[in-house]
Amino acid sequence: MRLIVTDDHAEMSRTAAQLMAAQIQANPTTAAVVATGNTPQQAYQELARLVRQGQLDVSRLRPFQLDEYLHVPESDPRSLFSWSKRAFLDPLQLPLERLVRLRGDGADSADACASYDREVEAAGGFDLAILGLGPNGHLGFNEPPSEPDAPTRQVALTPTSLASNASYWGELEVPTQALTCGMRHLLAARHVLLLVSGAHKRDILWQTINGPVTPAVPSSYLQQLPDAVVIADRAAWPYLT
Ligand code: F6R
Repeated sequence: MRLIVTDDHAEMSRTAAQLMAAQIQANPTTAAVVATGNTPQQAYQELARLVRQGQLDVSRLRPFQLDEYLHVPESDPRSLFSWSKRAFLDPLQLPLERLVRLRGDGADSADACASYDREVEAAGGFDLAILGLGPNGHLGFNEPPSEPDAPTRQVALTPTSLASNASYWGELEVPTQALTCGMRHLLAARHVLLLVSGAHKRDILWQTINGPVTPAVPSSYLQQLPDAVVIADRAAWPYLT
């Protein structure tokens, strides 16, 4: 695991976008699983800027959804499909059909997970995983406890995640169940970028990097990936490096 500390959120976003762009330039058909949430939004805007300026071609990129709420229709602004559209696909001018979906709006979540897994396997696994850090160490919605070989599956969101997700939706009800890409696929990605920003992530980032490797902090498994890159701003990592 390699840690890059930036002065602030803006620099974290630029650095992350540069690393993403380098990966896509090296492999234009990169299969990338893409987090929603607040942390990577500006990085995606930076990536879109590189595309607009003609410095990057993402036309063959293969994005995968990381997670989805259960029984939230895709047209609902809370759906993570619509978040992926707003934050990632639209700025990069990628067609919606390009996103490999993890569908929480169907009748059978086991089928949705199996269909997603088939797509990940057909792609030969992820070339790139762009992740944010949950307040409890979740990656995607791999809530604690999550074993490193946890499959793509339905999960009940923990009170910590529910409280954190409530901040996204104002008055709207927070979904309590979700589907998540499993730890197994995330930890097998050829490149992992974990973006972390803000003082509220300080303790969980410390545990991620220096704590025991344990299902109780799923993100701690990144310690076992020598090439995983954590990009944190100074607010999240105020220590000397
Ligand atoms: C989002 C996701 C979550 C978030 C995490 C951090 O698709 O899977 O794991 O990345 O909860 O969220 P923010 O960035 O909003 O702090």
